[in-house]
Amino acid sequence: MTYPIVIYGHPILRKIAAEIDQDYPGLKQLVEDLFETMYNSEGLGLAAPQIGKSIRIFVIDGKPAAEDEPSLADFKKVFINPEISEKCGDFQPMNEGCLSIPNLREEVMRESHIRIKYYDENWEYHDEVYDGYKARIIQHEFDHLNGILFTDKVNPLRKRLLKGKLTAISKGNFEAVYKTILPGQKIKG
Ligand code: CO
Repeated sequence: MTYPIVIYGHPILRKIAAEIDQDYPGLKQLVEDLFETMYNSEGLGLAAPQIGKSIRIFVIDGKPAAEDEPSLADFKKVFINPEISEKCGDFQPMNEGCLSIPNLREEVMRESHIRIKYYDENWEYHDEVYDGYKARIIQHEFDHLNGILFTDKVNPLRKRLLKGKLTAISKGNFEAVYKTILPGQKIKG
């Protein structure tokens, strides 16, 4: 099933999400639903807090960006209880957007290389390194599990200019092709 996407300003997006264990009820279905919701809303990644579940899981499918970055064509993954154990390399700029902050894109600086440890949907453990676009998407999604949004990371001047836009978004002044939950609206389930 497709979930509505929680929008900027909702407190669940600011919570530290909880780890889950292997017998988390309905885990397999949840993974399917995360992908379905992500595809429906045309995102490259989706973290559980964005569908109103404060748990440490996110999914990525880079396919829609494969035109710009061919290595993303088969980059489809589930990250459960992830831990970024190392970040290194230069800070590089890149434009980011987020399904929870519709119609807004801003340049964000992030480190170019990461090492991440996580469980996949079959509860197999991985310890992997990523760079470039993949490291970028992973860091964005991982931040969601710690209540951090990309707009927190834009430079201070831009951030001041964004304030009004973010307030408008949190009040529902945006267009999205997907269903949403605004701050103050109740999350079902
Ligand atoms: Co996001």
